[in-house]
Amino acid sequence: MDTRRNFLKLAGLGGITTIATFKGAQALASCDFRQTPIQPLGPFYPKAFPIDTDVDLTKLGNRSARAKGELVIVSGVVTDDFCRPIKGAIVEIWQACHTGRYNHPSDTSENPLDPDFQYYGTMRTNERGEYFFKTIKPGAYLASETWRRPPHIHYKVSLRGYQELVTQLYFAGDSLNHHDRILQELNSDDQNKVVVSFERDLIEGESVLKGIFDITLKKA
Ligand SMILES: [Fe+2]
Repeated sequence: MDTRRNFLKLAGLGGITTIATFKGAQALASCDFRQTPIQPLGPFYPKAFPIDTDVDLTKLGNRSARAKGELVIVSGVVTDDFCRPIKGAIVEIWQACHTGRYNHPSDTSENPLDPDFQYYGTMRTNERGEYFFKTIKPGAYLASETWRRPPHIHYKVSLRGYQELVTQLYFAGDSLNHHDRILQELNSDDQNKVVVSFERDLIEGESVLKGIFDITLKKA
């Protein structure tokens, strides 16, 4: 994967790299030396990876069709526990499409798959520790008959020399957050670290939800 090319490609969508840099500076100022809370991997980490694993999950390869759903741009900085940016960290995300369906054999729900959604993306952080993805807001889905999981994005962040981090990002303001058994296992401080406030913005005339999710890794 050519990360640099992906950065440049998305940088054309309204100065996203500038935003990431600014927020990166904020992250360093507020870095509190505590690791990003761990959340379960869940059953839907890809068994088979798509051919296209770039940072734009809204399109597959060179196809013009775009995934359905609200556009989301999530970015952040990966730092060590001394608040130093980590270059080259592998950031992976995976999630459901807008209907709440994963592209995974273990997802037996009847929610339809979106044939235009990438479902998984990965990149390495740049020299400032930054990453970002363009995706869509995942749908909620039933984890059991009495438990509907709120929209969330799964993360795995790794680099040799650091403890691998597996977690989940949530969307602030979603009423399902208060009843989610996985999110509610965290204390309120830790919940605040994985519940992200997304702001609506217009990028090239399109409405986009933008959010910042910074991640701290511990040394191995
Ligand atoms: Fe999930």
